[in-house]
Amino acid sequence: MSEPVKVSNRASSIEYAIRDVVVPAIELEEQGHEIIRLNIGDPLAYDGLPTPIHMIDEYKKALERQDNGYGPSYGLNELRKAISKSEISKGWNCKPDDVYVTHGVTEALQVIFAAFLEEGDTVLAPGPHYPPYMAYPQMYGAKTVEYRLKSSEEWKIDLDDISNKMNDSVKLLVLINPNNPTGNIASSSEIQDLINIAEKWPNCTIIADEIYDGLAFSDNFISAASLSKNVPVITLNGVSKVYFAPGWRIGYMAWHDPNHTLRLVRDGVERILRSRLCASTPAQYGYLAGLCGPKDWLDKHRKLTEERMNFCLKRINEIDGLSCESPKGAFYLFVRLTNPEHQRNDKKWVLDLLHQEHVLVVHGSGFSPEFGSGHFRMVCLPPVPVLEEAFRRIERFLSS
Ligand SMILES: Cc1ncc(COP(=O)(O)O)c(C=O)c1O
Repeated sequence: MSEPVKVSNRASSIEYAIRDVVVPAIELEEQGHEIIRLNIGDPLAYDGLPTPIHMIDEYKKALERQDNGYGPSYGLNELRKAISKSEISKGWNCKPDDVYVTHGVTEALQVIFAAFLEEGDTVLAPGPHYPPYMAYPQMYGAKTVEYRLKSSEEWKIDLDDISNKMNDSVKLLVLINPNNPTGNIASSSEIQDLINIAEKWPNCTIIADEIYDGLAFSDNFISAASLSKNVPVITLNGVSKVYFAPGWRIGYMAWHDPNHTLRLVRDGVERILRSRLCASTPAQYGYLAGLCGPKDWLDKHRKLTEERMNFCLKRINEIDGLSCESPKGAFYLFVRLTNPEHQRNDKKWVLDLLHQEHVLVVHGSGFSPEFGSGHFRMVCLPPVPVLEEAFRRIERFLSS
């Protein structure tokens, strides 16, 4: 065989734990084993949590009237208006021009990192966190430093840790609220304290990833932009989680820049957005229908998610070797392995569980080597009988 062409360091160092563990699962499936997949935050993979039909209808109508062309680079005007209204309802003065529609929050992150980061810069992100916050900044010669979420205090933000880690190189301070993978929701005073810390550093912008905002189990979600008087906040959200359509790949960033300090970087963002053309046109009509249409279906989806979550918590509390803080929203459980031997190598534990019992979860160290190890993340999305079987197998595995 000839010598392979070299891969860039940028690409070869990318890890995405949630999908990396799928590789051995597929091998087992190819051998004929049925795997219970609890690894991915995709409600459509399970029964009972479909995309609302009125959204699908509008998506289909766009296809049928041949609205299949390139759209404006920053998003359809009607959609930008609807998103700004939705952000205004969360308490801050968001104008349609402040909104940029992207191929999911994940593309928004790539664009933001490309526009903000230079060699030597830092992104300060919660540990544990959604993996791209660690994977992408290094592509620009920057690095991600994690601030601690306190595992024994419902994963609350360790504000002292943020203060200690702030310096001039921190260009972006990330808040994921509600958090993936912990399910915790930050209180208004925690968010205010985080903003107060950022305010001391004139080069620091807050990224508020609020993609699970409508999935809070009680009325306790507060938008970070609504609390910030001076610090710039870029809010991220989209169709994937709260509107149950992750495959449509539509998200947005909404810029709250009270003192216009981001005007140069914003110009950079707009250049990048123009150069990548636009987000999917028909899918934007589907999202528009979600934002402007009825919301009663969401109560049902949330209730069902909460019921499944409560079932998982009950079973976790019954099983020796597991413990878990109660999530306040989203659809993940970040489960602690209480046996020190299991804690030491959570990835091995996850792979052994997969091979022995055919249940797929994600190792906590994949969400944060420093603050997530000794845990695993599972979704609570499948129907209760599937979860029942999964826990039966996990319990058997732990007692084997
Ligand atoms: C915190 C967080 N942000 C963003 C995303 C991805 O969003 P999108 O599907 O819009 O790219 C996820 C997906 O799991 C997530 O957990």
